Amino acid sequence: MAGTGDVRRADTGATVWLTGLPSAGKTTIARALAGRLREQGRRVEVLDGDEIRASLSAGLGFGRADRHTNVQRIGFVAELLASHGVLALVPVIAPYADSREAVRRRHRQHGTAYVEVHVATPVEVCSARDVKGLYAKRAAGEISGLTGVDDPYEAPAAPDLRIDSQGRTVAECAAAVHALLTERGLL
Ligand SMILES: Nc1ncnc2c1ncn2[C@@H]1O[C@H](COP(=O)(O)OP(=O)(O)OP(=O)(O)O)[C@@H](O)[C@H]1O
Ligand SMILES: [Mg+2]
Repeated sequence: MAGTGDVRRADTGATVWLTGLPSAGKTTIARALAGRLREQGRRVEVLDGDEIRASLSAGLGFGRADRHTNVQRIGFVAELLASHGVLALVPVIAPYADSREAVRRRHRQHGTAYVEVHVATPVEVCSARDVKGLYAKRAAGEISGLTGVDDPYEAPAAPDLRIDSQGRTVAECAAAVHALLTERGLL
């Protein structure tokens, strides 16, 4: 029957986690990808770190335990959305390997697709971009605990995709993630 295949594909949800340093390009790539997927008629939700910290994770700090809790909460919501056919794009730093692994495990346990993308922009490039002025504040001694500077960032050893945004356009980076989702049969 015409269209049956489209219906089936539209029901395949997934979580796409974009991890990386502050100013790496996670939010920018996620929003570009979201636009492209919506144009294709897919249901997409972007769970952005900043928005979640102002809502679901309000009150959590930036110590190890709270960063872990934040990532588990986001992973919980993303899995729920993905299990209902939504493409949940998650541009969130998620600095710890064990936190990310726990999210991957939750998805595996529920049979929900999970894709980890490391937006691997080097710290020198991120600090030159400094979208929120955090690197400058850290350099001036006004804040501490900045991921990748004086707080750990455990880069993924085996992400599903690694993107170096340096020297590439946003559209190219979004296209790389889109290609991976296609390759995995998720689009
Ligand atoms: N190829 C690229 N992909 C993504 N962003 C890029 C690229 N080239 C340049 N940029 C710029 O880098 C900046 C990335 O900022 P963005 O807010 O997306 O980072 P982030 O990883 O979400 O940081 P944070 O963790 O602080 O939220 C933007 O100003 C964007 O325009
Ligand atoms: Mg962001």
